[in-house]
Formats: sequence, structure tokens, C-alpha cells
Amino acid sequence: MPPALPWTVRLEDDKVVLIDQTALPGQLRFVECRDVECVARAIETMVVRGAPAIGATAAYGLALVAIASSSMDARGLMEDLEAAAARLRRTRPTAVNLFWAVERVMGAARSASGSGDPEEIRRAVVSEAERIAQEDVEANKAIGRHGAELIEDGMTVMTICNAGTLATVWYGTVTAPIYMAWDEGKRFSVIALETRPVLQGARLTAYELHAAGIPVTLIVDGAAAHTIREKGVDLILVGADRILRDGTVYNKIGTYSLALAARAHGVPIFSVAPTSTFDLKSSRSDVRIEERRPEEVTTVRGVRIAPEGIDVYNPAFDMTPPHLLTGIVTEKGILYQPLWLTIARAFNISTTAGH
Ligand code: MRU
Repeated sequence: MPPALPWTVRLEDDKVVLIDQTALPGQLRFVECRDVECVARAIETMVVRGAPAIGATAAYGLALVAIASSSMDARGLMEDLEAAAARLRRTRPTAVNLFWAVERVMGAARSASGSGDPEEIRRAVVSEAERIAQEDVEANKAIGRHGAELIEDGMTVMTICNAGTLATVWYGTVTAPIYMAWDEGKRFSVIALETRPVLQGARLTAYELHAAGIPVTLIVDGAAAHTIREKGVDLILVGADRILRDGTVYNKIGTYSLALAARAHGVPIFSVAPTSTFDLKSSRSDVRIEERRPEEVTTVRGVRIAPEGIDVYNPAFDMTPPHLLTGIVTEKGILYQPLWLTIARAFNISTTAGH
């Protein structure tokens, strides 16, 4: 079943067209960016959000620089691309797909720059960005094929945040097995955590699944453990913004609490993510968990709910240690425990370093 939404991000001639996720679920409207600053602001302000979608958007931001550079020589174009890449890397710190996508496009630009031909650099940048977007959709479909095996008729599946089509270029990560299993004729229901403070679960996951005709029930974040115990939850699927080589998962704030509740109640919990979300080089001390504006907590959609002057701590993500996970669903297949070993095998890397 295809999601009832168009691509989250696409390149159309000389502009990047984004679904404006800040307007959902009220309005399906689009933001058009013609320069990299607009793209960077769209990432910062969460017009576009979700690790794979951010990566593809950043790649397209670099494509805009290339497209706008028709009168430039190779050196000038490379300088502009490096400056744009630096700007994009400053937008959000936790989701590794951003850095991965910028690096991939810049790698293609640097290889092409050896020719000294600006046209060749332009072509390399635009086609690498297009490839990143296309590959994301393909990876999600493969994730869906693997992950659908986990879903059985009559199950209740719980999820947090939005790891749906809107968090990717199309099809979603967590939603991919959901769409595929539904297509296979399985009938089940989903519980979505609202996901304070930005409410991606209420505004986006609930909207997306409801629009696709999949039964979805919305709960507040604090009701997760109670709902697992009282209503019964068979499977928990969460996204990821960064996964380390030992299987440590960084994802939306609340994921760690959910993993603890899953462990306490014996519910299988999987992180669902493409290989572009794996960061095989970093260790926990290298990862910066983004802290966002206090207003996200002290207000709800612009209405103040907390006293003026109150102290706020607003981490956007948390870290779930690998031992709390049942496994990780990727486009290469489902990786089970011990994650340090199955990840090493999936990526063909040594099992000694980093463990
Ligand atoms: O702050 P956001 O909305 O960008 O956070 C997104 C998430 O945490 C998602 O669950 C994660 O990126 C996985 S997306 C397929």
C-alpha cells in the first residue's frame, strides 16, 4: 500500500519542494526553496524533519548551489559548495544521515572537480543528490519487506515520533513494514505516542496512518507503560537518527523510556532504519544530542502553558543501549542480538574495534 502522500522532498528544475510538516495535519502545503539558506532554515525549523528526509533535503540543497552556478568556474563552484556544506552541517547535530548525505554529494563533487570542468561538477552533484533520494525510497521498501515478517494478524504495534513517509523521502522506515504487512492482507492496529514537545506522533504519524486507512490510536507519552500492561502491545517499532556500531540507538526523546517499559513487560522492540543511519566511526562521547528551544516545552502550538521564566531542559533525542533492543530492521535484513556482531557482519567490518 503506498502512503497517501507525495514525496516529502523533491527537486523540481531550480527549486527544492518540501511538504511543510509544520502545517500538518491541518493543511497539506509546500515550501519551495531556491537557495541553500532556505533549505538550511527548513531543516532548522522542522519544515522537514526525520533523519533520512533531512539527509536527502541537504543533498538537494547542494544541488541548488550547483544549479545556480552556471557562470562560475570549477574553483568558484567548489568554494560555494564547501560553504553550503558547512552551513548545512550546522543545521541539526544528531541525525547522522545529514552528515552522510552532505559527505556523499561533496565526495562526488570533489571527484568531478579533478576534470576542472564546472559542468561536470554540476552534473555529479545533481545526480548524486537524486541518487540519494531514490535510494532512500528503495531502502525503505526493502525494510518493509523484511520488517513485515514481524507483524502478524491481530497484533497491536506501538510506535513513537514519526518514522513514516514524512520522515523519509517516501514510504517511511517504521511505516514500511506496516504498509507492506497491510498489503499482505494482515489486519492489525497501531498505537502512536503523541511525542511531546513537537507532537510528531499526533500531528504526523496519526495523520499519515489514518490517511492510509490503517487503524491508529493516539496516546500521550506518559500512557505508554500503562497501555503496554493494560491493553497488551505485541511489537514496538521505533525509528533511529543514528545507530552506532555496537547497536546503540539515538532516536526521538522518549524512545529510551519506551525500551525500558518494553523490557519490563517482555515486548519485542526493534529500531527500524536504513544503513545510511548507521555511524560506524563514532562512539557515544562523539554524539551530540540536540537541545532545542525552551518554547517547544513552555508552549503548545503557540499557546503558553508554563510559567514565564521557568527553567527548561529540552533534549530532542535520547540514547537507547543495545541490550534493550530485540533487533534492528534494515534494508539488508533484520539484525538480531548480539548487535555488535550482526552489525559487523552486515557492514563487513571487524568485530574487535569499537566493542
Ligand atoms: O526531531 P525529528 O522530528 O527530526 O526526529 C525524528 C525522529 O526521531 C525519527 O523517529 C527518526 O528520525 C527516524 S525517521 C525515519
